[in-house]
Amino acid sequence: MSDDEQVSVQKDRIQQKLNEIRNQGLALLEEIQDEESLQEWHRSHLGRKAAVMDIMREMSSMPGELRPIIGKYANGVKQSFEKALQERAEAIKKIELERSLKKEQIDVTLPGRRPSRGRLHPETQALREISQIFVEMGFQIYRSPDVETDEYNFELLNMPPHHPARDMWDTFYTTKENVILRTHTSPGQIHVMRQFAPEPIRAILPGMCYRYEQITARSEIQFNQVELIAVGKNITFGDLKGTLQDFVNRLFGREVRTRLRPNHFPFTEPSAEMDVECFICGGQGCPVCKKSGWLEILGCGMMHPTVLKNGGYDPEVYSGFAAGLGPERINMLRHKIEDIRYFWSNDVRFLEQF
Ligand code: DAH
Repeated sequence: MSDDEQVSVQKDRIQQKLNEIRNQGLALLEEIQDEESLQEWHRSHLGRKAAVMDIMREMSSMPGELRPIIGKYANGVKQSFEKALQERAEAIKKIELERSLKKEQIDVTLPGRRPSRGRLHPETQALREISQIFVEMGFQIYRSPDVETDEYNFELLNMPPHHPARDMWDTFYTTKENVILRTHTSPGQIHVMRQFAPEPIRAILPGMCYRYEQITARSEIQFNQVELIAVGKNITFGDLKGTLQDFVNRLFGREVRTRLRPNHFPFTEPSAEMDVECFICGGQGCPVCKKSGWLEILGCGMMHPTVLKNGGYDPEVYSGFAAGLGPERINMLRHKIEDIRYFWSNDVRFLEQF
């Protein structure tokens, strides 16, 4: 074989090799779907260790006349790689965009997420129910303030300073002299009487009360009360008893029995407490009613003449009855809630049950 023939054979061989490199490289490139693999391809096909580069490096040992031909050919391969790479990069950008759009796509036919529904607090429910019953009996609802003076909370209710009965109510005092948080709703009796005297009154006064007490399963430092007051001519203990019995029947149902027990409150004379038959044992005696068969739900009595006078009514002409009931207490009995602290701890697991 002549030299020329040898060079020609070598040229064909190298060109064929370059063709293979190009075809393989382009075929691989077409398969690529993501940016990262594209970078990898770039490095292996156009980087220092790429096959085309090997051939370019080998050129120095090639016969002189072969160099420009192979150089041009190899460059062509390089250029076609660079062009294809750019095209592929554009295509991949499009693929990646579509992919991310697909990820964000929402299926509008899927059912929506259900928003969690709020509900009325069990105390709100009880207060509304209690109010409803008394409103049907002709009582109006009167709002009296949570922040009171010593005068309204105690003195005008027949408890002068140092009266021992004040010990029944552990009081939150404020930094302002004589300003306290009401320990019961009874001071509202004075407010409502002073507003309406000498008109007859039938009113309920619902609201929060505050006591500086040890918090236990049975007592909280804040709780609701509903005060009941009726003032007029010829109001008797029989009216009180009938009103309360009717209330209990409407709230708990016809079949519940009640009893009045004598008690003492400075603002009523005579005073009593009302018990209802224990719901849990039906009067047989159980731990909840402490084996008595009865549960206390309210304090009540005929308004003391001094209190009537303080409200602006002549006790010789007018009489009245009053009562104070605890809605939490009633709720606990009805729903068999064993701890009063649940009411104000805002635990949804408790609240969701009502
Ligand atoms: N104020 C009393 C208390 O908090 C409850 C009470 C008892 C209210 C007798 C009354 C009543 O109106 O006549 O313990």
